[in-house]
Amino acid sequence: MEKKVKIRGLTIKDLPAIIEIDRKVLGEPRPEYWKRKIEVSEFRPPLASLVAEVEGKVIGFILGDVSGWEFGVPDNTGMIETVGVDPAFQRQGIARLLSEELIRSFKLNGVQKINTLVEWDDWDLLQFFHTMGFKRGRRVNLELDLTEQPEK
Ligand SMILES: CC(C)(COP(=O)(O)OP(=O)(O)OC[C@H]1O[C@@H](n2cnc3c(N)ncnc32)[C@H](O)[C@@H]1OP(=O)(O)O)[C@@H](O)C(=O)NCCC(=O)NCCS
Repeated sequence: MEKKVKIRGLTIKDLPAIIEIDRKVLGEPRPEYWKRKIEVSEFRPPLASLVAEVEGKVIGFILGDVSGWEFGVPDNTGMIETVGVDPAFQRQGIARLLSEELIRSFKLNGVQKINTLVEWDDWDLLQFFHTMGFKRGRRVNLELDLTEQPEK
């Protein structure tokens, strides 16, 4: 990308920009969903959630976390919850910059492994994480569809 990209920590003020990027990517605005997610991210380790800015405009974000001891996941595990880039700025290395910076910050916090979950047919995200060196992990996603359960 020719223009200068600035990566910085995400704050609650970035909420409208993130809602807008998500709407552009997925089609539907989800303001309540993002409000909850971003409020929670303020209590997470510093620089676990980042935004990318070009000329003062937020064009991409990444939400990460470092886990406590839950579901057998040890403390030194980082998590990438979501990454999103404005479609007008995709394929210009923005998500790569965001994730490289997040990985740097995870390393400083003692993280040794990073997990993420991706829908099996989300090719953009799969290709992106593959390029970043992610491989299939040891855990398997289990799901129970309650709409298919008989009434008891
Ligand atoms: C996946 C996503 C984050 C990638 O962002 P990006 O800024 O375009 O990615 P980058 O330009 O940093 O890509 C780095 C590398 O990943 C790979 N890659 C990224 N997107 C790819 C795609 N669509 N197809 C194939 N490879 C891809 C490439 O190897 C790329 O390097 P290259 O462009 O030099 O070939 C972006 O497409 C996106 O936001 N998708 C929607 C994700 C989503 O649903 N998020 C939740 C709601 S916002």
